[in-house]
Amino acid sequence: MFNSIRLRMTITYLLLIAAVMLATGLVLLNVLENYYLSSEEENLQRTGRLAAESFLTYLREDSDPVLLSSVAESFSRQINARVIVVSPQKLVLGDSVRIGGLLGSRLERSEVQDALEGRMGRSIQYSKLSDQWVLQVTVPVEEHDTSFGAVFLSASLAPVYENLTAIRRFMVVSTLTAMLFAGGLVILFAHRLTKPIKELTGVAQQMAEGKLDQNIPITTDDEIGRLAQQFNIMAARVKETNQHLTRFVGDVSHELRTPLASIHICLQSLEDYEMKPEEQKEFLQDINKETERLIYLVEDLLELTRRQEVGEKSEIFSLGELLEEVLEVTSPRVKRKGLTLFKEISEGLPLFFISPEALKRVLFNLLDNAIKYTPSGGWLKIAAENRAGEVIVTVQDTGCGIPEEAIPHLFERFFRVDKSRSRYLGGTGLGLAICKEIIDHYGGQIGVEESQEDKGSTFFFTLPVDVTIQADYEEDVI
Ligand SMILES: Nc1ncnc2c1ncn2[C@@H]1O[C@H](COP(=O)(O)OP(=O)(O)OP(=O)(O)O)[C@@H](O)[C@H]1O
Ligand SMILES: [Mg+2]
Repeated sequence: MFNSIRLRMTITYLLLIAAVMLATGLVLLNVLENYYLSSEEENLQRTGRLAAESFLTYLREDSDPVLLSSVAESFSRQINARVIVVSPQKLVLGDSVRIGGLLGSRLERSEVQDALEGRMGRSIQYSKLSDQWVLQVTVPVEEHDTSFGAVFLSASLAPVYENLTAIRRFMVVSTLTAMLFAGGLVILFAHRLTKPIKELTGVAQQMAEGKLDQNIPITTDDEIGRLAQQFNIMAARVKETNQHLTRFVGDVSHELRTPLASIHICLQSLEDYEMKPEEQKEFLQDINKETERLIYLVEDLLELTRRQEVGEKSEIFSLGELLEEVLEVTSPRVKRKGLTLFKEISEGLPLFFISPEALKRVLFNLLDNAIKYTPSGGWLKIAAENRAGEVIVTVQDTGCGIPEEAIPHLFERFFRVDKSRSRYLGGTGLGLAICKEIIDHYGGQIGVEESQEDKGSTFFFTLPVDVTIQADYEEDVI
């Protein structure tokens, strides 16, 4: 039950509101109580002082208790408090309570003692007799440091506490109302907040069950909205990856099936028919060719998957020298096909610190395509130059060119413009995909600079200078 955000949020908010209201209430009540008590005390003291002045004239003249009591009574009526006047011997000389009063008795109280010593006395106490809290104040009756007695005033605190109780009640009611109101709001807010999370959970669950075609409507642009947006992107990627994988497996099976089917037919023919040795040799040559294709295909596939797993060993090398090396290896093939090869390699190409083997693979693939798809009599050109922030290498040919609509797909696995021609030429359609994988890995770009059908095409790739070694380091290395 407590593992729901909505419930936890509601309880937390309610507790927070209750705690804040309780703390505020306690502080407020305390302040109010102090305020009421001190204003009541001030009131009593003010009246006490006035009474003391009045009593002084009577006490000087030794007035009788009846007169003193009626003066006490008149002050008592003004402030609704009991007023008693005592002699310096603490004898009650006048009491506003006539019947059952303290007239004639001694008032032995510490507050009276305070007043007789010239100080204001004060106390709050619970009166069992009247069953209420009372505030008692004493004021000295004196003249030129001579004490004539003291005035004792006692007022009920019931009205003060009644007021405080009313305020307390009001605060409890307003706290409960605020909690009720806030609780409703929090539930509503929590519902709105958790609704998209619930939806997200549902959709994620569906994805986990294999239904990958999921999309969440984005209704807000807050954190949850952004989470939903990222989720949609992720869902689209998962779906795309899944589609790629399915297509890839289909393509691989298809590519494997064609040479395997040829081998199978050849083997069956060899088994079923009587053949002359020359005929048998021809069949065996076909089997050999198809097996070679299978080996190339599997090698290319391995290359693609392995590239994703292990990075090749990086070394410092000169791009110019590496290009010369690659051209030296390919030139016999170029010559054999009756092509001419030009090169335009700029001076001062930087040293690279990447895998030379990977870069060679890119160059071999691009040159292999240029040779493969250019008819004899044509020419090829390889160029390399240092541009701002990157090195660009281009491989140009005068071959069959690439139709415009095929260009965006060239770097996809198994893509071939003309399947039968490429297959006939021994291509699996993985070469450019491998090149892209390598160039992407080093942060460069690869693409077709220009291409015209039957006129030729120019492929290029770039490598950022941050994979090169700067010139001052060059001297140390060489
Ligand atoms: N220089 C080019 N001229 C014309 N078409 C090209 C050229 N380079 C690539 N292509 C087209 O692009 C396709 C993909 O090239 P890619 O190098 O990936 O595969 P492939 O050469 O057919 O096979 P592989 O390189 O795996 O042996 C080719 O089949 C071809 O149709
Ligand atoms: Mg190729």
